[in-house]
Amino acid sequence: MKSLRKAVLPVAGLGTRFLPATKAMAKEMLPVVDKPLIQYAVEEARAAGIEQFCFVTGRGKVSLVEHFDVAFELEATLKERGKLDTLKQLEGASAIPGSIVSVRQQVPLGLGHAIWCARAFIGDDPFAIMLPDDLVLAETSWVKQLADAYTETGGNVVAVEEVPREHTNRYGILKVGKDDGRMAEVLGLVEKPKPEEAPSNLSIVGRYVLMPEVIAELARFEKGAGGEIQLTDGMARLIGRQPFHGLRCTGRRFDCGDKAGYLEAQLAFALSRPDMADKVRAFLPNYR
Ligand code: G1P
Repeated sequence: MKSLRKAVLPVAGLGTRFLPATKAMAKEMLPVVDKPLIQYAVEEARAAGIEQFCFVTGRGKVSLVEHFDVAFELEATLKERGKLDTLKQLEGASAIPGSIVSVRQQVPLGLGHAIWCARAFIGDDPFAIMLPDDLVLAETSWVKQLADAYTETGGNVVAVEEVPREHTNRYGILKVGKDDGRMAEVLGLVEKPKPEEAPSNLSIVGRYVLMPEVIAELARFEKGAGGEIQLTDGMARLIGRQPFHGLRCTGRRFDCGDKAGYLEAQLAFALSRPDMADKVRAFLPNYR
Protein backbone atom coordinates (compact mmCIF):
# COMPACT_ATOMS: atom_id res chain seq x y z
CA MET A 1 0.00 0.00 0.00
CA LYS A 2 1.35 3.41 -0.95
CA SER A 3 1.59 6.02 1.78
CA LEU A 4 -0.08 9.39 1.49
CA ARG A 5 2.35 12.07 0.31
CA LYS A 6 0.32 14.41 -1.91
CA ALA A 7 -2.42 16.98 -1.44
CA VAL A 8 -4.49 18.83 -4.01
CA LEU A 9 -5.98 22.16 -2.99
CA PRO A 10 -8.66 23.50 -5.33
CA VAL A 11 -8.40 27.27 -4.98
CA ALA A 12 -9.82 28.62 -8.22
CA GLY A 13 -13.15 29.79 -6.71
CA LEU A 14 -14.13 33.44 -7.15
CA GLY A 15 -15.09 34.07 -3.53
CA THR A 16 -18.27 35.95 -4.48
CA ARG A 17 -19.66 35.54 -0.97
CA PHE A 18 -16.92 37.79 0.40
CA LEU A 19 -17.13 40.65 -2.07
CA PRO A 20 -15.94 43.36 -2.00
CA ALA A 21 -13.06 41.97 0.16
CA THR A 22 -12.23 39.39 -2.51
CA LYS A 23 -12.45 41.69 -5.52
CA ALA A 24 -8.66 41.88 -5.91
CA MET A 25 -7.66 39.31 -3.30
CA ALA A 26 -7.85 35.51 -3.22
CA LYS A 27 -10.45 34.35 -0.68
CA GLU A 28 -7.96 31.75 0.57
CA MET A 29 -5.73 34.66 1.68
CA LEU A 30 -8.38 35.86 4.15
CA PRO A 31 -6.75 35.65 7.57
CA VAL A 32 -8.09 33.95 10.66
CA VAL A 33 -6.39 35.92 13.44
CA ASP A 34 -3.06 36.38 11.62
CA LYS A 35 -2.74 33.47 9.23
CA PRO A 36 -4.38 33.01 5.84
CA LEU A 37 -6.74 30.09 5.25
CA ILE A 38 -4.36 28.56 2.69
CA GLN A 39 -1.59 28.29 5.29
CA TYR A 40 -3.84 26.55 7.81
CA ALA A 41 -4.59 23.95 5.15
CA VAL A 42 -0.93 23.45 4.21
CA GLU A 43 0.10 23.13 7.88
CA GLU A 44 -2.70 20.62 8.51
CA ALA A 45 -1.42 18.50 5.61
CA ARG A 46 2.17 18.76 6.82
CA ALA A 47 1.05 17.45 10.20
CA ALA A 48 0.02 14.31 8.28
CA GLY A 49 3.43 13.98 6.63
CA ILE A 50 2.42 15.54 3.31
CA GLU A 51 5.04 17.67 1.58
CA GLN A 52 3.86 17.73 -2.04
CA PHE A 53 1.14 20.20 -2.89
CA CYS A 54 -0.75 21.09 -6.01
CA PHE A 55 -2.82 24.29 -5.95
CA VAL A 56 -5.50 24.32 -8.63
CA THR A 57 -5.70 28.04 -9.24
CA GLY A 58 -7.35 30.49 -11.58
CA ARG A 59 -6.92 34.13 -12.50
CA GLY A 60 -5.94 36.41 -9.62
CA LYS A 61 -4.61 33.62 -7.42
CA VAL A 62 -0.87 34.13 -7.81
CA SER A 63 -0.60 35.37 -4.20
CA LEU A 64 -1.38 31.85 -2.94
CA VAL A 65 1.81 30.48 -4.47
CA GLU A 66 3.78 33.62 -3.55
CA HIS A 67 2.75 33.25 0.09
CA PHE A 68 5.06 30.23 0.41
CA ASP A 69 7.99 31.79 -1.43
CA VAL A 70 11.12 33.23 0.19
CA ALA A 71 10.54 36.92 0.99
CA PHE A 72 14.17 37.90 0.80
CA GLU A 73 13.97 41.64 1.65
CA LEU A 74 11.53 41.04 4.51
CA GLU A 75 13.57 38.23 6.02
CA ALA A 76 16.87 40.11 5.65
CA THR A 77 15.38 43.23 7.27
CA LEU A 78 13.95 41.28 10.18
CA LYS A 79 17.30 39.56 10.74
CA GLU A 80 19.15 42.88 10.58
CA ARG A 81 16.79 44.35 13.17
CA GLY A 82 17.16 41.31 15.40
CA LYS A 83 13.43 40.51 15.20
CA LEU A 84 13.97 36.79 15.41
CA ASP A 85 10.57 36.05 16.97
CA THR A 86 8.81 37.69 14.04
CA LEU A 87 11.04 35.80 11.66
CA LYS A 88 10.05 32.56 13.36
CA GLN A 89 6.39 33.36 12.71
CA LEU A 90 7.13 33.13 9.00
CA GLU A 91 8.27 29.52 9.20
CA GLY A 92 4.92 27.95 8.23
CA ALA A 93 4.77 30.26 5.22
CA SER A 94 7.74 28.63 3.54
CA ALA A 95 8.17 25.50 1.50
CA ILE A 96 10.85 23.03 0.53
CA PRO A 97 11.96 24.00 -3.01
CA GLY A 98 9.78 22.27 -5.56
CA SER A 99 7.16 21.10 -3.07
CA ILE A 100 4.36 23.38 -4.28
CA VAL A 101 3.21 23.33 -7.86
CA SER A 102 0.17 24.96 -9.36
CA VAL A 103 -2.04 24.19 -12.32
CA ARG A 104 -4.75 26.41 -13.75
CA GLN A 105 -8.39 25.55 -14.04
CA GLN A 106 -9.10 27.97 -16.88
CA VAL A 107 -12.87 27.58 -16.80
CA PRO A 108 -14.94 26.97 -13.64
CA LEU A 109 -16.55 23.67 -14.65
CA GLY A 110 -16.87 22.24 -11.14
CA LEU A 111 -14.90 20.71 -8.28
CA GLY A 112 -14.52 17.39 -10.12
CA HIS A 113 -13.01 19.21 -13.07
CA ALA A 114 -10.63 21.11 -10.76
CA ILE A 115 -9.32 17.82 -9.37
CA TRP A 116 -9.00 16.38 -12.87
CA CYS A 117 -6.79 19.39 -13.73
CA ALA A 118 -4.26 18.02 -11.18
CA ARG A 119 -4.07 14.58 -12.85
CA ALA A 120 -0.38 14.83 -13.88
CA PHE A 121 0.55 15.73 -10.29
CA ILE A 122 -1.52 12.87 -8.86
CA GLY A 123 -0.20 10.19 -11.21
CA ASP A 124 -0.70 6.73 -9.66
CA ASP A 125 -0.64 7.84 -6.05
CA PRO A 126 -3.29 8.19 -3.36
CA PHE A 127 -3.87 11.86 -2.58
CA ALA A 128 -5.62 14.17 -0.15
CA ILE A 129 -8.01 16.90 -1.23
CA MET A 130 -8.42 19.91 1.03
CA LEU A 131 -10.96 22.68 0.54
CA PRO A 132 -9.37 25.58 2.43
CA ASP A 133 -12.78 27.21 3.10
CA ASP A 134 -13.35 24.41 5.58
CA LEU A 135 -11.10 25.35 8.47
CA VAL A 136 -10.38 22.80 11.16
CA LEU A 137 -9.51 23.31 14.82
CA ALA A 138 -8.40 19.94 16.16
CA GLU A 139 -5.72 18.36 18.27
CA THR A 140 -4.95 15.89 15.51
CA SER A 141 -4.88 17.16 11.93
CA TRP A 142 -7.95 15.94 10.01
CA VAL A 143 -5.77 14.88 7.10
CA LYS A 144 -3.77 12.79 9.58
CA GLN A 145 -6.99 11.23 10.90
CA LEU A 146 -8.04 10.42 7.32
CA ALA A 147 -4.55 9.12 6.46
CA ASP A 148 -4.74 6.72 9.44
CA ALA A 149 -8.19 5.57 8.32
CA TYR A 150 -6.78 5.00 4.82
CA THR A 151 -4.05 2.81 6.31
CA GLU A 152 -6.74 0.94 8.26
CA THR A 153 -9.17 0.42 5.35
CA GLY A 154 -6.88 0.49 2.31
CA GLY A 155 -9.19 2.75 0.31
CA ASN A 156 -11.02 6.03 -0.06
CA VAL A 157 -11.96 7.99 3.06
CA VAL A 158 -13.86 11.26 3.30
CA ALA A 159 -14.41 13.44 6.37
CA VAL A 160 -18.09 13.58 7.31
CA GLU A 161 -20.40 15.42 9.69
CA GLU A 162 -24.08 15.17 10.57
CA VAL A 163 -25.92 18.25 9.30
CA PRO A 164 -29.50 19.40 9.88
CA ARG A 165 -31.85 17.73 7.35
CA GLU A 166 -32.74 21.07 5.79
CA HIS A 167 -29.08 21.61 4.84
CA THR A 168 -28.50 18.44 2.79
CA ASN A 169 -28.77 20.50 -0.40
CA ARG A 170 -25.48 22.24 0.47
CA TYR A 171 -23.31 19.10 0.62
CA GLY A 172 -22.38 15.75 -0.81
CA ILE A 173 -24.47 13.24 1.18
CA LEU A 174 -23.70 9.62 2.07
CA LYS A 175 -25.82 6.55 1.76
CA VAL A 176 -24.52 4.68 4.76
CA GLY A 177 -23.93 0.97 5.29
CA LYS A 178 -22.21 -0.46 8.36
CA ASP A 179 -21.58 2.35 10.82
CA ASP A 180 -19.80 2.09 14.16
CA GLY A 181 -20.40 5.73 15.06
CA ARG A 182 -16.88 6.74 14.02
CA MET A 183 -16.42 5.23 10.59
CA ALA A 184 -19.27 4.53 8.18
CA GLU A 185 -19.16 2.33 5.12
CA VAL A 186 -20.29 4.32 2.08
CA LEU A 187 -22.88 2.64 -0.16
CA GLY A 188 -23.71 5.67 -2.24
CA LEU A 189 -23.01 9.39 -2.64
CA VAL A 190 -25.36 12.13 -3.85
CA GLU A 191 -24.38 15.72 -4.50
CA LYS A 192 -26.62 18.33 -2.86
CA PRO A 193 -29.87 16.33 -2.63
CA LYS A 194 -33.12 17.98 -1.50
CA PRO A 195 -33.85 17.11 2.15
CA GLU A 196 -36.71 14.80 1.14
CA GLU A 197 -34.47 12.91 -1.28
CA ALA A 198 -31.31 12.72 0.87
CA PRO A 199 -30.28 9.15 1.80
CA SER A 200 -29.03 10.42 5.21
CA ASN A 201 -27.92 13.61 6.89
CA LEU A 202 -24.27 12.61 6.90
CA SER A 203 -22.43 15.14 4.76
CA ILE A 204 -18.99 15.31 3.19
CA VAL A 205 -16.86 18.16 4.50
CA GLY A 206 -13.77 19.51 2.77
CA ARG A 207 -11.20 16.78 3.44
CA TYR A 208 -10.75 13.64 1.36
CA VAL A 209 -8.20 10.87 0.83
CA LEU A 210 -8.83 9.33 -2.56
CA MET A 211 -7.34 6.68 -4.77
CA PRO A 212 -5.97 7.83 -8.16
CA GLU A 213 -8.62 5.82 -10.05
CA VAL A 214 -11.09 8.64 -9.42
CA ILE A 215 -9.36 10.65 -12.16
CA ALA A 216 -10.54 8.29 -14.91
CA GLU A 217 -14.11 8.71 -13.64
CA LEU A 218 -13.81 12.51 -13.62
CA ALA A 219 -12.44 12.36 -17.17
CA ARG A 220 -15.93 11.31 -18.35
CA PHE A 221 -16.83 14.99 -17.89
CA GLU A 222 -20.39 14.12 -16.96
CA LYS A 223 -22.34 17.07 -15.66
CA GLY A 224 -24.09 16.61 -12.34
CA ALA A 225 -25.80 18.87 -9.79
CA GLY A 226 -25.83 22.51 -10.87
CA GLY A 227 -24.59 21.54 -14.35
CA GLU A 228 -21.06 21.07 -12.94
CA ILE A 229 -18.59 18.18 -13.13
CA GLN A 230 -18.94 16.97 -9.57
CA LEU A 231 -16.24 15.26 -7.52
CA THR A 232 -19.03 13.45 -5.65
CA ASP A 233 -20.21 11.76 -8.87
CA GLY A 234 -16.68 10.63 -9.75
CA MET A 235 -16.21 9.21 -6.24
CA ALA A 236 -19.58 7.46 -6.38
CA ARG A 237 -18.30 5.40 -9.32
CA LEU A 238 -15.56 3.90 -7.11
CA ILE A 239 -18.02 2.48 -4.58
CA GLY A 240 -18.16 -1.30 -4.76
CA ARG A 241 -14.81 -1.42 -6.59
CA GLN A 242 -12.66 -0.05 -3.78
CA PRO A 243 -13.18 0.38 -0.03
CA PHE A 244 -15.01 3.67 0.65
CA HIS A 245 -15.64 5.10 4.10
CA GLY A 246 -16.81 8.25 5.81
CA LEU A 247 -14.91 9.25 8.95
CA ARG A 248 -16.27 11.47 11.70
CA CYS A 249 -13.08 13.29 12.64
CA THR A 250 -12.53 14.66 16.13
CA GLY A 251 -12.29 18.42 16.39
CA ARG A 252 -14.31 21.30 14.97
CA ARG A 253 -14.84 22.51 11.43
CA PHE A 254 -15.74 26.07 10.52
CA ASP A 255 -17.27 26.98 7.19
CA CYS A 256 -15.16 30.00 6.27
CA GLY A 257 -16.95 30.27 2.95
CA ASP A 258 -19.79 31.75 4.98
CA LYS A 259 -19.52 35.11 6.77
CA ALA A 260 -20.92 33.95 10.10
CA GLY A 261 -18.82 30.77 9.98
CA TYR A 262 -15.73 32.86 9.25
CA LEU A 263 -16.41 35.17 12.20
CA GLU A 264 -16.97 32.21 14.49
CA ALA A 265 -13.65 30.75 13.34
CA GLN A 266 -11.92 34.04 14.23
CA LEU A 267 -13.28 33.81 17.75
CA ALA A 268 -12.61 30.11 18.23
CA PHE A 269 -9.03 30.36 16.96
CA ALA A 270 -8.31 33.50 18.97
CA LEU A 271 -9.69 31.85 22.11
CA SER A 272 -7.50 28.80 21.47
CA ARG A 273 -4.34 30.95 21.45
CA PRO A 274 -2.54 31.80 24.68
CA ASP A 275 -1.47 35.20 23.28
CA MET A 276 -5.03 36.19 22.41
CA ALA A 277 -7.50 34.38 24.66
CA ASP A 278 -7.48 36.80 27.62
CA LYS A 279 -7.83 39.87 25.41
CA VAL A 280 -10.79 38.36 23.57
CA ARG A 281 -12.46 37.19 26.78
CA ALA A 282 -12.10 40.73 28.15
CA PHE A 283 -14.08 42.38 25.33
CA LEU A 284 -16.54 39.61 24.50
CA PRO A 285 -19.09 40.48 27.24
CA ASN A 286 -19.54 43.91 25.61
CA TYR A 287 -21.33 42.26 22.72
CA ARG A 288 -24.01 40.22 24.43
C1 G1P B 1 -18.21 20.87 -2.20
C2 G1P B 1 -18.59 19.45 -2.60
C3 G1P B 1 -19.57 18.86 -1.60
C4 G1P B 1 -19.02 18.95 -0.20
C5 G1P B 1 -18.61 20.41 0.13
C6 G1P B 1 -17.88 20.46 1.46
O1 G1P B 1 -19.33 21.71 -2.37
O2 G1P B 1 -19.13 19.45 -3.91
O3 G1P B 1 -19.85 17.52 -1.93
O4 G1P B 1 -19.98 18.49 0.72
O5 G1P B 1 -17.74 20.93 -0.88
O6 G1P B 1 -17.57 21.79 1.83
P1 G1P B 1 -19.21 23.30 -2.46
O7 G1P B 1 -19.08 23.78 -1.04
O8 G1P B 1 -18.02 23.60 -3.29
O9 G1P B 1 -20.50 23.76 -3.08
